[in-house]
Amino acid sequence: MDRSDMRESVRGLQRYYNPPVGGALRMDTNTNVLGSNPAAEAYLRGLRVDLNGYPNTYSDGLRDALAGLYGLQRENFVAGNGSDEVLNTILTAFAEPGRTVCTIPCPSYSLYSYFAALASGSLREAELTEDFQLDVDAMAGKGEEGRGVLIVPSPNNPTGNCFRRRDVEEILARHEGIVVLDEAYSEYAGQTMVDRVDEFDNLVVCKTFSKAYAMAALRVGYCASNLKVAGMLNDVKVPYSLNAVSEGAAIAAVGDQDFIRRSVGMVSEQRPRLSRKLKELGFEPYPSDANFILARSPIDHARLVEGMRERGVLIRDFGANRRTENCVRPTVGTEELNRVMTDAIEDVLAEERR
Ligand SMILES: Cc1ncc(COP(=O)(O)O)c(C=O)c1O
Repeated sequence: MDRSDMRESVRGLQRYYNPPVGGALRMDTNTNVLGSNPAAEAYLRGLRVDLNGYPNTYSDGLRDALAGLYGLQRENFVAGNGSDEVLNTILTAFAEPGRTVCTIPCPSYSLYSYFAALASGSLREAELTEDFQLDVDAMAGKGEEGRGVLIVPSPNNPTGNCFRRRDVEEILARHEGIVVLDEAYSEYAGQTMVDRVDEFDNLVVCKTFSKAYAMAALRVGYCASNLKVAGMLNDVKVPYSLNAVSEGAAIAAVGDQDFIRRSVGMVSEQRPRLSRKLKELGFEPYPSDANFILARSPIDHARLVEGMRERGVLIRDFGANRRTENCVRPTVGTEELNRVMTDAIEDVLAEERR
């Protein structure tokens, strides 16, 4: 067997970014720096589960908790093994293989192109404007392109900014196919469209427990849509894909909104401080509504990231990509973690000057 035996559309795929970490401080994955979700942890400590039974097929308990949180119905929701699985389900349900299966802004989340390849179709990329906002004409497809799935991450990763609400609404009105609003970081921006899914024929809002909810290890994600579309998605999704332990932990986490407020409050306080500090150190940080900041490095990006790694701090490197030339993307930490991170940056910069 060799790669020519693989399905043509996936032959070229490479493995996702996953560096060996050892004991390094991870400021490269935008998870919650306050640590594990306390309600989920308490749930796991008291866990008594019948390992011999299947979980609830469509995670009804979690979908009920989410319905309560947003004032919607259980049947508005689709739960999955991380929002990555949910995105995959959406493309499986609504993208026709061999066609333009998906349109995304550029730059945006790197895994979208992977899911387009899994869906056996082509990916259309619509360049963001100079200030990293949506080019509505370029995004909204007509004819063949209009039937594909359009994905809008807001806040966007890696740029960090939210897109203008009026642009998202115009795209929803003009695009004939499904529009996915990927809100992986929306808690930090204090805005969501989940509570508006019933107003639109084609809106699917994706969310995750991996970021503000501090549960990335348990792989829980979900999307919300109108009853018709959510029903179609549940018909397609892999049954039992969310295990019983993760579902129980996620239900507990939904019940502890204080932790989310605390996490978001910390980021709102530290984000402008970190941005100011980066500016002082010669970086050009972009405005962010998320728990990370994209910033142009004053020295070569690869040397900075490597120097940081040697000092035990990981930040994500986007410097070799178009539109984010020489940029890095650190997660916003607590005051203490930001000090550790910026001390390491200062040290690398000082070494460069020697
Ligand atoms: C924009 C965006 N969407 C989705 C995800 C995936 O989230 P999950 O862990 O729920 O699969 C990420 C993770 O980094 C992300 O940045």
